Amino acid sequence: MSKRISVKDLNVFYGDFKAVEDVTLDIAPRSVTAFIGPSGCGKSTFLRTLNRMHEVIPGARVEGDVLLDGDNLYGPGVDPVTVRSRIGMVFQRANPFPTMSIRDNVLAGVKLNNKRISSSDADDLVERSLRGANLWKEVKDRLQKPGSGLSGGQQQRLCIARAIAVEPEVILMDEPCSALDPISTMAIEDLIAELEKDYTVVIVTHNMQQAARVSERTAFFNIAGAGEPGRLIEYSDTTDIFNNPREKSTEDYVSGRFG
Ligand SMILES: Nc1ncnc2c1ncn2[C@@H]1O[C@H](COP(=O)(O)OP(=O)(O)O)[C@@H](O)[C@H]1O
Ligand SMILES: [Mg+2]
Repeated sequence: MSKRISVKDLNVFYGDFKAVEDVTLDIAPRSVTAFIGPSGCGKSTFLRTLNRMHEVIPGARVEGDVLLDGDNLYGPGVDPVTVRSRIGMVFQRANPFPTMSIRDNVLAGVKLNNKRISSSDADDLVERSLRGANLWKEVKDRLQKPGSGLSGGQQQRLCIARAIAVEPEVILMDEPCSALDPISTMAIEDLIAELEKDYTVVIVTHNMQQAARVSERTAFFNIAGAGEPGRLIEYSDTTDIFNNPREKSTEDYVSGRFG
């Protein structure tokens, strides 16, 4: 398998607490990978280590390596801001800047990276990013209106447009549909299928049907008990995880027997 991301022997800590233990896994370019597992098993924590968002929490740290196209993201001298421009993130709750216009919301990440951009280039980028997020047709006549005026599903697509505008290689999504109704969820799932053509997408989801619908590969994480670290139990083609899992605990989880 060709690799966009390669994680080796990763341990993730909050202070003295080891939240995730000894994860090794590779993620192929232009694919969708789902992370599943019971609440508290470290899915969000692990996801945030893939673009160095974990370390913004005081006392949080990692041991081990995360390579992006062979470059160690945790190597000496690597700038976490650059890492986050190559590996974007979309959160559980859509978080547009409420008073900022739709247009400026799309450009917010680009400006954060101190990129200078002419007004006409910005217009092109806004249109391209909103088209990429399947939102252009719905907002093209109100680009100067605040982002907070959009529905929850539209706001989540606006956040995806903001992530795309930075032109990342990888997009991480942490339960992006958990606050959305079924119609908006379908719009996001359709969008993920489109994004896969250009990006590497990693999505945390507690919705097993969603993992089965959108991803080619699925990683199942589990936790042995309170205070224990989360571990990667099984990582395989999504069809195998759901239809032919190797591990008993994977089978129990995907068949809804716990978690
Ligand atoms: N900011 C934090 N500080 C300390 N512990 C945390 C923090 N965030 C998460 N944890 C702990 O790390 C473990 C994994 O949490 P999390 O990654 O949120 O799991 P999941 O996303 O699978 O539900 C849990 O025990 C949780 O309490
Ligand atoms: Mg989580």
